[in-house]
Amino acid sequence: MSEEISTSNLIELISGRRTIHNYKEGLCPREKLIEAIDLARWAPNHHLTEPWHFYLLGDESVNAVIELNSEIVRASKGDEAATAKERRWRKMPGWFVMTCCRSDDPIRNQEDYAACCCAVQNLMLTLWNEDVGVKWSTGDVIRDKRFYDLLWIDQELETVVGLFWYGYAEEVPKMTRKPCLQITTELP
Ligand SMILES: Cc1cc2nc3c(=O)[nH]c(=O)nc-3n(C[C@H](O)[C@H](O)[C@H](O)COP(=O)(O)O)c2cc1C
Repeated sequence: MSEEISTSNLIELISGRRTIHNYKEGLCPREKLIEAIDLARWAPNHHLTEPWHFYLLGDESVNAVIELNSEIVRASKGDEAATAKERRWRKMPGWFVMTCCRSDDPIRNQEDYAACCCAVQNLMLTLWNEDVGVKWSTGDVIRDKRFYDLLWIDQELETVVGLFWYGYAEEVPKMTRKPCLQITTELP
C-alpha cells in the first residue's frame, strides 16, 4: 500500500458505518456514487466473473418502483400500510439497484452473490467515508417480475441483490454486535 490508512480510521469507518433509515432532504451528488461503484468493483470475485451491475434510478423509474411497491403492500397489508409505505419511500433521496449475473451452476451463483455482497460493503464504506449513508433493502418488490420489467432487467440473466437508498443521514442509529469471543472457536 502506498499511503497507509491509520488503524483507528479504519476501525472508525468499519464499525461506525450504519444502515441509514431516515435521510435529510437533498441529494448526494451522483459523482460520489460513481466513485463508490468504481471502488466496489475491486471486491474479491472468484474466477474474476465481476458479476455485478448497477442501475441508477432516475425520477421516472423511482416513481414506477414506488407505485409497484404500494400495489404489493396494498395487496398484502391493505390501504393504510400502502399509503404509509409510499409516503416513506417518497422521502428516500438517492436510489440504485444492484444485480448479480445468473448462472446454471449453483456454486457459481453462490460465489457470485458472495462477491456482490463484498462489493456492496466496499461501496457502503466508500460512501460512509464521505458522510453518505446507505440502506440495503430486500423487500418483496425486488423479487417481483414487474420490478425487473420496469427497470429493463432480464430476469433470465440477472438477479436483483438489492434496492439501495443513499443520502445524508437524518439520524445515525446505535447498533451493537456480539463479542468476538462468542463468535470465535479456536481449534487445535
Ligand atoms: C442482504 C441484506 C438485506 C437487507 N435488507 C434489509 C431490508 O429489507 N430492510 C431493512 O430495514 N434493512 C435491511 N438490511 C439492513 C440490515 O437490517 C442492517 O444491516 C442490520 O440491521 C445491521 O445494521 P447496520 O448495517 O447499521 O450495522 C439488509 C442487510 C443485508 C446485508
